Amino acid sequence: MEKEEELNNLRLQIERDNPSPELKEQATQLVFGDGSIDADILFIGEAPGKKEDISGTPFVGRAGKFLNEMLEKINLSREDVYITNIVKYRPLNNRDPLNNEKQAFLPYLIKQINIIKPRLIITLGRHSMNCFLPEHRISEAHGKLTNTLYKYEDKEYEYNILPLFHPAAAIYNQSLKGSLVEDFLTIPKILSELTTK
Ligand code: URA
Repeated sequence: MEKEEELNNLRLQIERDNPSPELKEQATQLVFGDGSIDADILFIGEAPGKKEDISGTPFVGRAGKFLNEMLEKINLSREDVYITNIVKYRPLNNRDPLNNEKQAFLPYLIKQINIIKPRLIITLGRHSMNCFLPEHRISEAHGKLTNTLYKYEDKEYEYNILPLFHPAAAIYNQSLKGSLVEDFLTIPKILSELTTK
């Protein structure tokens, strides 16, 4: 099956399974993902906000604009990467996703990753990082590449994870913003080292 078909099936499966009926009921629509399905880099955020809920596309609000600006700094555009969230429906009032909500969507995120097969997974914020690296703290782990064997349903998957601060958090905090931009600028080197391995 082609990747596109597999992703379409996955989207339909989420709609059918309805892993979080409370979130779905309050949301406008499923926000599945955006960008190139053949991308080397997959960004994973937390959950859609208001603008994402209305448009059906992840990271189109203020945090998304900042993400686009940082992509430009490393000569990439949204069409070169793939962007998604752990939780695919907007939690009301932009509250943090709850543990049970993250757990409910995790199996679909793992499938989405395994269809796209990115070389590098960039987690945005601690929620996304902790899905893969539960013991890590973002204050120490940000900007450091970790190769991890992720166990899921009796299988192991090798993922290269680069945790970054969440762009929304960085907008309001100048020192986080500086660290985020600095970490972001290292992406091309990290990616080229992974590619030549
Ligand atoms: N924040 C996220 O984590 N995801 C979005 O899609 C938008 C804002």
